[in-house]
Amino acid sequence: MEQSYRFSVAPMLDCTDRHFRVLMRQISRHALLYSEMVVARAVHHILQDARADSNERQRRLERLLGCDPIERPLSLQLGGDDPKILAQTAALAAEWGYDEVNLNVGCPSAKVVQGRFGACLMAEPERVADCVAAMVQASGLPVTVKHRIGIDARDSFAELVHFVDTVASGGASRFSVHARKAWLKGLDPHQNRTVPPLRWDLVQQLKQARPGLLIELNGALKPWKLASRCWPGPGAPYPTMDPWRWTGSWWVEPPTAIRCVGKRWTGSCSASPERKPVPHRS
Ligand SMILES: Cc1cc2nc3c(=O)[nH]c(=O)nc-3n(C[C@H](O)[C@H](O)[C@H](O)COP(=O)(O)O)c2cc1C
Repeated sequence: MEQSYRFSVAPMLDCTDRHFRVLMRQISRHALLYSEMVVARAVHHILQDARADSNERQRRLERLLGCDPIERPLSLQLGGDDPKILAQTAALAAEWGYDEVNLNVGCPSAKVVQGRFGACLMAEPERVADCVAAMVQASGLPVTVKHRIGIDARDSFAELVHFVDTVASGGASRFSVHARKAWLKGLDPHQNRTVPPLRWDLVQQLKQARPGLLIELNGALKPWKLASRCWPGPGAPYPTMDPWRWTGSWWVEPPTAIRCVGKRWTGSCSASPERKPVPHRS
């Protein structure tokens, strides 16, 4: 695995757009940057829309897939459950300059569950494996999967391992594990990021059980913890984090924190060697 992929900024809808990613890249040249989730069916509709001319089609694709080489290493996160449609979008990801495709198997929102993708796919590991295999074949890119440690009552360690083993057999290159289960009914997406107990230990256990797999840990990772000695460091699952969620003056500290994490995890620093601190605003 690339040194530069050892930590990452998590995918976030309405946040990790191309502008935010360029900003993050000014701060760290090491972090893998995930896009917002792009629904593969939306891309498919653009391609199928007979009323749109090629300029219009290109303009609409640009809004969903547009990126700049400066953002790399860059992962396009897709939502979907249809291997053919996902494969079509994954092939476009390669053309548009992404380094990998990531399948969202962690989103528990009602809209996503209604579309039969996101976290509910944890109940269908074979389908996820088929989707991954189709995307690998169509794109030639590494395909990774972001998922939970379980959903609803399907939350045993054995079920987690079965999910990961099955999806690995489809050719998944890395597993980004949000260390909480998701409840598909009764909790909204925000609650599903805060209410189910955090189980980093299960992700560590998964890494121990499957040392040959690349496992990324996600969920309540505080940059200062990752940057400090209390984090186990190399050998532990790779961290992926959400810098916006680091409370406090979030315009100021998260970027600095990402730099510190980079330093700790790669032994070097960010893209720009000199950066003056931004003054706090009250
Ligand atoms: C505003 C927001 C949008 C998010 N959008 C996505 C998304 O598009 N795809 C995804 O897999 N996860 C999404 N997430 C979940 C995060 O990637 C991450 O898994 C979650 O916030 C847990 O990490 P944290 O505890 O560090 O915040 C989103 C989270 C937030 C706060």
